[in-house]
Amino acid sequence: TNKTFTMIKPDAVKDGHSGSIIKMIEAAGFRIVALKKTQLTSERAGEFYAVHKERPFYNDLCMYMSSGAIIPMILEKENAVADFRKLIGATNPDNAEEGTIRKLYAISMEKNAIHGSDSDENAAIEGNFFFSFTDQF
Ligand code: GTP
Ligand code: MG
Repeated sequence: TNKTFTMIKPDAVKDGHSGSIIKMIEAAGFRIVALKKTQLTSERAGEFYAVHKERPFYNDLCMYMSSGAIIPMILEKENAVADFRKLIGATNPDNAEEGTIRKLYAISMEKNAIHGSDSDENAAIEGNFFFSFTDQF
């Protein structure tokens, strides 16, 4: 499809980078379909990241993702999932290309500023995790 899901993670929200990140997202041609500011409980973070539950970093990730406010969004653009992953850069900011959101704003592999869905299927699942159809414009 032409949609993806993202969330600005707690470190980037706390450090005041939300506006700059949203500016980069719109400048790259993405249209914001839905947006809010919210906070996950560790249980709900665990549900969101259930695919990673066997990974050694799962508990830390759930603690971190519930440690502060996040800004989830549904975005629309042609080739949205792949183009957005390109805009955010590699998971580890040391490997992220110049000019990517993570190169500019990520603090570490875990506190890496932003999430981007990895498939059309997950984009739909993740968008529905945070938003109702009637929140989407
Ligand atoms: P997301 O867009 O957030 O899904 O990132 P990703 O697809 O680039 O990475 P992945 O789905 O593999 O991992 C999900 C998240 O777990 C990452 O964004 C990091 O915040 C965290 N993470 C991944 N690998 C590690 C790791 O080795 N150590 C720690 N502490 N966190 C990790
Ligand atoms: Mg991922």
